[in-house]
Amino acid sequence: MSVEEREVILEVKHLKQYFRLDKRSVVKAVDDISFEIYKGETFGLVGESGSGKSTTGRAIIKLYQPTSGEVWFEGQRVDTKLSHSKKKAFNKKMQMIFQDPQASLNGRMKVEDIIAEGIDVHNLATSKKDRLNKVFELLETVGLNREHANRYPHEFSGGQRQRIGIARALAIEPSFIIADEPISALDVSIQAQVVNLMNQLKKERGLTYLFIAHDLSMVKYISDRVAVMNKGKIVEIAPSDELYHAPLHPYTKSLLSAIPLPDPRTERRRKRIGYDPSIHNYSQEKPKWLEIRKGHWIYGSDSELNDYEVELQGK
Ligand SMILES: Nc1ncnc2c1ncn2[C@@H]1O[C@H](COP(=O)(O)OP(=O)(O)OP(=O)(O)O)[C@@H](O)[C@H]1O
Ligand SMILES: [Mg+2]
Repeated sequence: MSVEEREVILEVKHLKQYFRLDKRSVVKAVDDISFEIYKGETFGLVGESGSGKSTTGRAIIKLYQPTSGEVWFEGQRVDTKLSHSKKKAFNKKMQMIFQDPQASLNGRMKVEDIIAEGIDVHNLATSKKDRLNKVFELLETVGLNREHANRYPHEFSGGQRQRIGIARALAIEPSFIIADEPISALDVSIQAQVVNLMNQLKKERGLTYLFIAHDLSMVKYISDRVAVMNKGKIVEIAPSDELYHAPLHPYTKSLLSAIPLPDPRTERRRKRIGYDPSIHNYSQEKPKWLEIRKGHWIYGSDSELNDYEVELQGK
């Protein structure tokens, strides 16, 4: 299906999320970003620590009131104050999975009750037995088993805890999941298992993911498209393959150069490219967005955009 025909599930328009620290200082955590996410895709959001990725996710899921801009979900504007029933409907459709499964699961609660929390809030079980059966089913869906329902989070490994987090998110059958660095805290050997599980669930349940990560190493494999974020701004958006083979923004190039290569010989020769933001002369030349190739968006001044066009012709 061509990109234009795809249904947009989430649209973020000129979103700003500022935090006032005191009378004089404001943190511009998210500073005028716009993007669309298509139904059924995995949209990666990458950038180094502090670039505003989590704030973006939290603003979308209504944990913050945005400073300005708009968020549209399934054709409805959701960044404004919603009526009780609309808020509840929204909460049922969008869920979040967190980086640290240890911190995001209540250690005093049994797995059964952790997973069933959403089921209770949204009255999705007809009886106690139905509730427990639903929990059993969810545990099996994420590769755990029913005996686990009676245990506490500390009795599990990191990867298993993340599976519990995923089961909890799935319990209310959402259509959209924001996964905020869901594998960063896990051993490398476990990361692929969790990613495979998420991919399988996505296919089976027609889910859409906003997948947040620090670096591009995993994200380029699992995302259909990737947005690169730096200091509150998105600087490049492209299909994963295109971003990988024809990166244009110097910050994207820097992130790509940080990925270790599997072959030890080429890995030894890998050069890290640094990123120096002072190369942009945006006080003289105002930057803007350009769709430089179909689906490939890049942020820059007129002269930079010209240079990018020339560079792209050679690729
Ligand atoms: N509630 C808050 N109050 C004040 N400042 C905040 C708040 N939340 C985030 N920030 C600041 O906003 C900026 C972006 O933070 P955010 O957590 O969104 O970054 P991130 O890209 O998710 O980073 P990481 O990769 O480390 O998780 C940082 O400078 C952070 O200190
Ligand atoms: Mg974060």
